[in-house]
Amino acid sequence: MNEKNIAILPGDGVGPEVTTEARRVLEWFVARRKLALRLDEYPYGADAYRAHGQVLPKATEAAIHAAHAILFGAMGGMDGDAIPREARVAGGLPHVRRSLALFANLRPIVTIPALYESSSLKNRLLDGVNFVIVRELIGGIYFGKPRGIETLANGERRGFNTQTYTSSEIRRIARFAFELARTRRGEVCSVDKANVMEAGVLWREEVQALRDAEFPDIELRHLYVDNCAMQLVRAPAQFDVIVTDNIFGDILSDCAAMAAGSLGMLPSASLGAADSGGRRAALYEPVHGSAPDIAGKGIANPLGAILSVAMMLRLSLARPDDAALLERAVGAALDAGARTADICEPGKAPISCSEMGAAVLRELDRA
Ligand code: IPM
Ligand code: MG
Repeated sequence: MNEKNIAILPGDGVGPEVTTEARRVLEWFVARRKLALRLDEYPYGADAYRAHGQVLPKATEAAIHAAHAILFGAMGGMDGDAIPREARVAGGLPHVRRSLALFANLRPIVTIPALYESSSLKNRLLDGVNFVIVRELIGGIYFGKPRGIETLANGERRGFNTQTYTSSEIRRIARFAFELARTRRGEVCSVDKANVMEAGVLWREEVQALRDAEFPDIELRHLYVDNCAMQLVRAPAQFDVIVTDNIFGDILSDCAAMAAGSLGMLPSASLGAADSGGRRAALYEPVHGSAPDIAGKGIANPLGAILSVAMMLRLSLARPDDAALLERAVGAALDAGARTADICEPGKAPISCSEMGAAVLRELDRA
């Protein structure tokens, strides 16, 4: 049997709680849909640092490089001060993404009518919202050099980072966005800060040049990031594919999440370049992060992690039908009233993280 191995890194904060539910869902597909997978969990994050002296222990690092795909929980937030900064940076999520060359981060935002009430936006703005933020993930100010904190001659301290993009980095992510748009409505909105930043001027020129040379069928427009933030809350249904850099994508995706009702609903996929056989390194994780304020309470929303499994089924396991089945099961659980605290209307009783996982499994059994 051609078994594919999935490395699971529960990580910090609510990561273990939500990945437990995502794993149960993945196991359902193994058992019921003849998906040949081997699921292995590896230590990562604060616990790993305590046990092995490294946030990303060597064995975990080897496993994620060998895995067919990675299911990731969350990192950071917990015990931040107990872990030396160098150790945190050396094994941190940005490092993991870069060491696997996961340059393309996909964050789909889809509204579900059952969750309109938990969105901070008016209902009439939510109809038909279905777009993807394509975030460049391994360049820009997250990695640019020089960076640091220095002490100046006058005793004052100065912190500095560098926004940097090469034309090939820009074209690689733009190409990904254009190809994705070809499978959707054919519209790309590129977001930069070209009115102030040189890196933004280059970004805009390169994206436009690639469109003109190779993707004349794609409708391309450019927005400044401040305007885009406003448009996301003014009229989110206008977008199909948004392509942007690392830090703007980080910020805009949290902002856009409120259309979907809660940050807890958002899945993501981080992908590398396709090899000759079409295979890509891939890491799937909920967008919400470690949420230290609610960690360990069993109240986190596992749907971001569960919908990340749906993305894995579609993008790494060539199971589009199973992905759609899972997305329908999530929709059915929500239609039936399943609500964790983050998406619960005032006065109603929320269910726990594991009860939400069970609600999705129930709908899968029923399908
Ligand atoms: C995200 C997170 C990460 C990021 C953090 C945890 C490093 O906010 O995936 O959006 O900034 O990329
Ligand atoms: Mg973020």
